[in-house]
Amino acid sequence: MASFSTLLVLSSVFLLTVLFIILFFLLHRRNPSLHLPPGTTGLPLLGETLRMITAYRSGRPEPFVDDRLRLYGCRLFTTHLFGELTVFSADPDFNRLVLAGEGRTFESSYPSCISTLLGRRSLLLMKGALHKRMHSLTLTRFASPQAIRSSLLPGIDQLIRLNLRSWGGSVRLLDQAKKVAFEMMVEQTMSEGPGEWTEYLRRHYNALIDGFFSVPLFAFLRFTTYGRAIKARKKVAEALMELVKRRKEEKMRETEDEAESRKKDMVDELLEADEGFSEEEMVDFLLALLVAGHETTPIMMTLAVKFLTDNPSALALVKEEQKEIRGRKKDELEALEWSDYKAMPFTQCVVNETLRVANIISGVFRRSVADVHYKGYIIPKGCKVFASFRAVHLDENYFDDARTFNPWRWLDQNNMRKDGSQQAGGAPTFTPFGGGQRLCPGYELGRVEVSVFLHYLVTCFSWEVAEKDKLVFFPTTRMLKGYPIHVQCHRSL
Ligand code: HEM
Repeated sequence: MASFSTLLVLSSVFLLTVLFIILFFLLHRRNPSLHLPPGTTGLPLLGETLRMITAYRSGRPEPFVDDRLRLYGCRLFTTHLFGELTVFSADPDFNRLVLAGEGRTFESSYPSCISTLLGRRSLLLMKGALHKRMHSLTLTRFASPQAIRSSLLPGIDQLIRLNLRSWGGSVRLLDQAKKVAFEMMVEQTMSEGPGEWTEYLRRHYNALIDGFFSVPLFAFLRFTTYGRAIKARKKVAEALMELVKRRKEEKMRETEDEAESRKKDMVDELLEADEGFSEEEMVDFLLALLVAGHETTPIMMTLAVKFLTDNPSALALVKEEQKEIRGRKKDELEALEWSDYKAMPFTQCVVNETLRVANIISGVFRRSVADVHYKGYIIPKGCKVFASFRAVHLDENYFDDARTFNPWRWLDQNNMRKDGSQQAGGAPTFTPFGGGQRLCPGYELGRVEVSVFLHYLVTCFSWEVAEKDKLVFFPTTRMLKGYPIHVQCHRSL
């Protein structure tokens, strides 16, 4: 009996080993029949995911890409990430094809655990004609200078000052920046000011966001991060649903004069849209806007301060520029205006350089919806693609001394386009806000918010780093400890 079980164990081990070897060779094949770009698929099932995560958590992710570009002599390589064969692109021409081909050759692709949290009808997941319509509505609302100047900037100025007024002693910059950014998004989309309701929404929203960066196992168990996130999503959606219903009723009772004299927001746009969106669609849409605006701008605020702190000569120039703007104001407490924002050339260089070096969104995942032929390779239909903006932004071929923070490089902005992207030859090489049909609708708003924040920070405060911190790039770009600083206020705001 004992010898039979030994035989059984041995033959199972043998079978498993053979299976492992076959799988290993299958996954490591260069797949010549498909003509995919060169590469390796790493370990069975895990692929190169762990290697990639280790690199991006180390604060020095570049070798992961550099080594492969050198090894394969090509700006595209095949790898295996998060359970899927993935074509990784460090090629600006290919990235342009990916961004411009939205809906025809590529489409955005998020894992189902993310779509569950976002909601099926969020802008980030929408496709086709409805996406086009909603995207342009969002662009008009958030990216037009007219909308920013007249309706968004006064609120941004007020909320930033209100928050900074309570600053003193030790501050975890990222947490504080997130609080301001959340209040700004809620104000801009739903005209709700800071207070009990916004804080309630923020508390549940934070639990929801934790779910984005957790392993979605055992979602039905409430004590797992993902399980809590699902529960929090329900709370956020309920609160937004109540708001939508209330606003709908108010709108029905409103006279024409009242409607005309009132400042419009994103909820108005949705309620007035010809499509007649359902309440659920509006809730998903508003939630996605909160996520898109809140998970980006505060990181940029924190990193801009970090880079300025590390570069005293750049900080001195920003201070000089901002003090000059403040000096031109009649009243010390006068709000910033669009013309002030337009008179901050060096601060804009700092914003660009922060976006380039730190890459808040390091790239975008897509899935090919047709076979794509590119430079002799075929990316087959259904293949996952990662268009890395970071790899291009930090490439010496496009930016001199590419891995050094140097805001002065942006002083000559002749080749900058309206959306902030930069053209070199045929393809954009600076695409912090993506491009094509999914171009970030907050590309100008994000810049305005960071610029106003820097204005009040440098004109009213001095600060020093309170704790050593580290910049990491996984699961998102951020300072690991949230960049703790000691601040001292010198001027009332
Ligand atoms: C510095 C700040 C920001 C950065 C770096 C950034 C970056 C990006 C990028 C790269 C995309 C493209 C994603 C893709 O192609 O899949 C995107 C999309 C988006 N962003 Fe931003 N963003 C920022 C701020 C904002 C703000 C303030 C808003 C608020 C209005 C916003 C709203 C959105 C939305 C709604 C989308 C989805 C567009 C679509 O899929 O049609 N973003 N953002």
